[in-house]
Amino acid sequence: MNAWKGQDVISTMNWEREAMESVLATAEKMNVAFRKKQRSTTLNGTVMASLFFEPSTRTRVSFKSAMRLLGGEETAFGDPKTSSSAKGESLYDTVKALETQVDVFVIRHPNEGAAAWAAANTDVPVINAGDGNNQHPTQALLDLFTIQQNKKKLDGLTVLLAGDLKYGRTVHSLAYALSKFDGITLQFYSPSTLRMPSFMLKDLREFVKVQELDSMNLADADVIYATRIQKERISDPEEYRKASYRIDLEVMKHAKEDAILMHPLPRVDEIAVEVDRDPRAKYLEQESNGVPVRMAVLSMILGDRS
Ligand code: NCD
Repeated sequence: MNAWKGQDVISTMNWEREAMESVLATAEKMNVAFRKKQRSTTLNGTVMASLFFEPSTRTRVSFKSAMRLLGGEETAFGDPKTSSSAKGESLYDTVKALETQVDVFVIRHPNEGAAAWAAANTDVPVINAGDGNNQHPTQALLDLFTIQQNKKKLDGLTVLLAGDLKYGRTVHSLAYALSKFDGITLQFYSPSTLRMPSFMLKDLREFVKVQELDSMNLADADVIYATRIQKERISDPEEYRKASYRIDLEVMKHAKEDAILMHPLPRVDEIAVEVDRDPRAKYLEQESNGVPVRMAVLSMILGDRS
């Protein structure tokens, strides 16, 4: 049974472990094809509409590559400056204009709940590629995939989520996804003004051990997940300046020998470039996993459509 067929991908909050594992297993197979640059015809004749109302580089490009490698096509309604959204066209009208022409929507939007709202207004599956400071579920899948590749498991890990935990949608998605695995400890470290929302901490405590750290203590973490301070979502420049932090090779001396360091990218100053040569740095590998994981998601939602 493919639980993803025809489904929307909006939030990790209510995902089950089995469903995540099934995508990861498909992503393994896709990864082999991807690394050999093999194309398939799985999604021949299908069209993905990319609606990006916020900047994106890697998410958008990796969805497009994923679709192309599976034989499908992309219709982009992307750049708000050049598409009709510059004329004030709403997400609703865009979805309604395209729904008869496409098989799946990939939507990034500055408003929380935008993808869920679009999904409620169309029968075409919707994939949330980031809604404001809320969720970024396919990023969580590629994060899990990268953790599994490196740690050979997803259970029993201590994961430190650091940076902008208030506005960072990637940490929200990843924390909920990880909470469905066994024996997980989630550690949170952020500037005091950018803490993980308290309702999320409460939800997560139902499933896993939660520790809020008052300093950047890397000592216990199997996975260190650093994130960018979300400047575009912080109105006070002083608050932004005070929030900055940096991981360099000196800081990495405090991390476990077999820890891995991840980041959804783009980075600003959170990770010094010198850290790239530390074998524990996995963010570039993580980034490249975007394509096979999105191939898995697209093929499971759209594939086998008879
Ligand atoms: C993230 C995002 O858009 O939330 N980027 C990404 O998709 N890899 C992280 C960020 O912008 O900081």
